Amino acid sequence: MAIIKHLFIIAIVSAGGRAQLADFLFPGLAHTARSITGALASQPALQAASQASGNVLASIVNVLTAVPIAAARSLNPSVNFPSLISDSNIVDYSENFIADFNSGSRNEDVRLNVGELILKYGYPMERHKVVTEDGYILQMYRIPSNGTVVFLMHGMLGSADDYVIAGPESGMAYLLASEGYDVWLGNARGNKHSRHHTEFKSSDALFWDFSWHEIGCYDLPAMIDYALNTTEQTSLKYIGHSQGTTSFFVMASEKPEYNEKISLMVALSPVAFMTHVTAPFIKLLAPTGTLLHGLLKSIGVYEFLPDSSLTRALKQLMCGNGPVAEILCSNVLFLSVGFGFDQLNVTNLPVIFAHMPSGSSAKQFAHYGQGVLSGEFRQFDYGSTENVRRYGSSQPPKYNLSNIVAPVSLWYSEADWMSHPTDVSELYSKLNNAIDIYKVPIERFNHLDFLWAKDFKNIIYQRLRKLLTYF
Ligand SMILES: *[C@@H]1O[C@H](CO)[C@@H](O)[C@H](O)[C@H]1NC(C)=O
Ligand SMILES: *[C@@H]1O[C@H](CO)[C@@H](O)[C@H](O)[C@H]1NC(C)=O
Ligand SMILES: *[C@@H]1O[C@H](CO)[C@@H](O)[C@H](O)[C@H]1NC(C)=O
Ligand SMILES: *[C@@H]1O[C@H](CO)[C@@H](O)[C@H](O)[C@H]1NC(C)=O
Repeated sequence: MAIIKHLFIIAIVSAGGRAQLADFLFPGLAHTARSITGALASQPALQAASQASGNVLASIVNVLTAVPIAAARSLNPSVNFPSLISDSNIVDYSENFIADFNSGSRNEDVRLNVGELILKYGYPMERHKVVTEDGYILQMYRIPSNGTVVFLMHGMLGSADDYVIAGPESGMAYLLASEGYDVWLGNARGNKHSRHHTEFKSSDALFWDFSWHEIGCYDLPAMIDYALNTTEQTSLKYIGHSQGTTSFFVMASEKPEYNEKISLMVALSPVAFMTHVTAPFIKLLAPTGTLLHGLLKSIGVYEFLPDSSLTRALKQLMCGNGPVAEILCSNVLFLSVGFGFDQLNVTNLPVIFAHMPSGSSAKQFAHYGQGVLSGEFRQFDYGSTENVRRYGSSQPPKYNLSNIVAPVSLWYSEADWMSHPTDVSELYSKLNNAIDIYKVPIERFNHLDFLWAKDFKNIIYQRLRKLLTYF
C-alpha cells in the first residue's frame, strides 16, 4: 500500500540519512520524528487509506502534519523561532487593535472582488483570459491606459488582489494607474482566478502538479506575450513580490529570449537563495516537505491546505493566546511569512483577510523547502532515480542566472522572514545585470509590508516611481 510505503520512507529518513541535517536545522527533530512515526503507523486513518474518502484524506493530512508540529514543539522557541507577538506589546495594543479591526470589518470592500474594487475606486477595468502552452487558463486583470505597460506579479498564496487591497491611497496598482501606467495584474495557475484547465478540473490531482518552476516557464511567458500583443508593445516593466520574483528568475534563466521583453524588473523581497530564511513555516516544512508532497500525491491531495493542524499548532507556538493573536495568526499567509506591527493598517486587515490566501499547490511549498535545505536555486528534486529520468542527472539542474540580462532592481529589508539580506547578496552577486540594490531603511519592515505597509507610498512607491522613469 502506497501510504505505508511512504511512511516507511519517513521513518528511514528520520532515523538515518538526513537526520543529521534535520538535527542541525531543528535540534531534536529526528528524535521527535522517530517517536511520531511509530504513532503514525498505528493510526486507523492510515490503515483505512485504501478506501480513501474525503474524511480519511483529511485525517491523513492532519496526522502527517503532526511531524513538523512535534518538531516545532521540541524546539526552544527563543532560538530560531521569531515570536510574532510578545506579551509586552499586547497589553497596550490590544484594545485599539480590536476596535480598529472591528470598525474595518464593516467596510464593504470586504465583500467586493478585485474587479469590483477597481471600478469602485474610479478606474477602468478589463479581464483577459490566457491559455498557457500546457493548458492552464489564466485570468489577468488590467487597468488599461495608453501609457507604459507595467506587469505586476503576486507571491505564493497571493493573487492580483494583492496590489489592490491596500486601498486607493496605498494600493500599488492604483498608484501606477493614476500616473498613467497601463497596469496588468497577473494570476498564477492554482490561485482563485486561475483554476481552469483545458483538460483537467481543479479537483483533479494532475491539475496541482506544478510549482513555481511551471509558473516561470509557462504562466509568465503566456501572460507577458498576451499583454505585449494586446498593447502592441515590444517590452514591459515587471514588478514582482516574493514568488513573483522567484518565477521571474526561473523564466529569465530558462527562457532567455524573454529578457529582451523586459525593460526593467523590480524585485520586491526577492526569493531565490533561501539558506537564511527565518520563516518557521517554510523551515519546518523543509525536511518533511518533499515527503509530505510525495504522500499527498499518492493519495491525490495537491492543493496546499491552509486549515490544517500544522497551522493551528504554529499559531499556538508563535502567537500564543489572546484576541490579537487569534485574529492575526488565523491567516495562514501572516502565519507563514510573519508581519510587523509598525506598518500594519489594522483597519484594513479585514479587507486583506477577505482576499487572501488565494490558493497554491503543495508542491510550491515543497520546492521552497528544498531550497532551504540544498542552499541551491534549482529545479524540483524528485529523488535521484526520478531525477535521472527527468533531467539526466541525479541532482536537479540549477537555474543558470547568467542567462538573465534584463536589468534587475533588488529591494529587501532586514526583518524579512523570507528574503534574508545574506541570501539577497548572494543573488545580487550572481546576476550580471543587477542595476540597483536597495535596503528599505526601516527597522522591522517585513515581507508583507512590501505590499500593504501603512506608509507604502513614502517608503516604497516614491522611490519606485523614480526608478520606473529611468528605464
Ligand atoms: C493617451 O490618452 C490621453 C487621454 O486618454 C491623451 O490625452 C493622450 O494624448 C494619449 N497619449 C498618447 C501617446 O496616445
Ligand atoms: C495577437 O493579437 C491579435 C489581434 O489582437 C490576435 O489575432 C493574435 O492571435 C494575437 N496573438 C497572440 C500570440 O496572442
Ligand atoms: C488603512 O485602511 C483603511 C481602511 O481600508 C483605509 O481607509 C486607509 O486609507 C488605509 N490607510 C492607508 C494609509 O492606506
Ligand atoms: C550559463 O549561461 C551562460 C551564459 O548564458 C553560459 O555561458 C554558461 O555556459 C551556462 N552555464 C551552464 C552550466 O550551463
